[in-house]
Amino acid sequence: MTTHYTTLHVALPHSPYDILIGESLLDRFAAMLPPSLSKSRKFFICDSNTELYARRIAGESPVFSVSAGEQSKSFSVFQDVLSWLLDHQVDRHSLIVAVGGGVVGDLAGFAAASVMRGVPVVQVPTSLLAMVDSSVGGKTGINMPQGKNLVGAFHQPSMVICDLEVLKTLPERELKAGYAEILKYALLGDSAFFDWLETHGQEVLDLNPEAVSYAVKRSCEMKRDIVVADEKETSGRRALLNLGHTFAHAFEAVMGYDGRLLHGEAVAVGMVCAMELSVRKNLMSAQQVERVVQHLSRLGLKAHLKDLRLPADVQAETLLEIMRGDKKAAEGSINFILMRGIGQAFLTGDVAKDDVIQVLTQ
Ligand code: GLY
Repeated sequence: MTTHYTTLHVALPHSPYDILIGESLLDRFAAMLPPSLSKSRKFFICDSNTELYARRIAGESPVFSVSAGEQSKSFSVFQDVLSWLLDHQVDRHSLIVAVGGGVVGDLAGFAAASVMRGVPVVQVPTSLLAMVDSSVGGKTGINMPQGKNLVGAFHQPSMVICDLEVLKTLPERELKAGYAEILKYALLGDSAFFDWLETHGQEVLDLNPEAVSYAVKRSCEMKRDIVVADEKETSGRRALLNLGHTFAHAFEAVMGYDGRLLHGEAVAVGMVCAMELSVRKNLMSAQQVERVVQHLSRLGLKAHLKDLRLPADVQAETLLEIMRGDKKAAEGSINFILMRGIGQAFLTGDVAKDDVIQVLTQ
């Protein structure tokens, strides 16, 4: 069987790897692996939604399935994963394979970073969001009662395998949430990609093979370039990937993580808030924000704060306090990613509290 796929190489000096993007890749999983890993003992980690895929590619290898949902990114489930790996005599020559969305990728990636002081992990993302964002770049971790992703490690995968066919079984709402992260790349750094999305966005959501393949490829390319330039998020470049996320994390925190608000939905509205903040600072025009809002609305994505239906008692001040507690807040000032126009994002701590309050109340 011939399999057509695109390879993007992530040229990190100490941990280079390939991202494969194509169709029917799961059926050829073993043949796709880098030669150095093909003979490793493999441990598959998945969730209740992706177990069928994991078992399809695992063959005789052991599979550990966690409950689907954000609650699995916890210290206790992390311990269960580690215990399972150790009970099965994992060693430093083993390979962990994460088959799932962002939760599985982050959890299994962190287990791989920690067990035996680090074993290789291959990411097999099964959601659009995981394909274009969380599976690439090596951020792994779990949530703590104090907040999301507060414990973790940078642990680059040895390969990322995006089989676009699995998107066919993804609920529409999840596809749209993943689309928000694709849009993020266009807004933060590629206005021509935004023009393309305006024309082809619906085809991406309809899973037109050429359109979805291009959108995933372009997003992974942009993420790859940012990660190679700033692997550990020290120069401000990787922080651009947090466009809309300071707002989004606050929205998610007040809604809880019970599935009522998906991360991508919060990010879509968060990006509009970041643009509105940019307009308040005379950095970009209101017409450009309107263009993005129209785009989101045409595709049936939430664009405005009111669309999120936050609890009525949540005040703008409450959201601001949560933002201050966000781990990206440096010594009291909150860092925001603002925009000088579509495709021109930058990091700044120079934002007045009143402007944020205005954006959250309008
Ligand atoms: N998801 C943001 C990053 O990988 O840096």
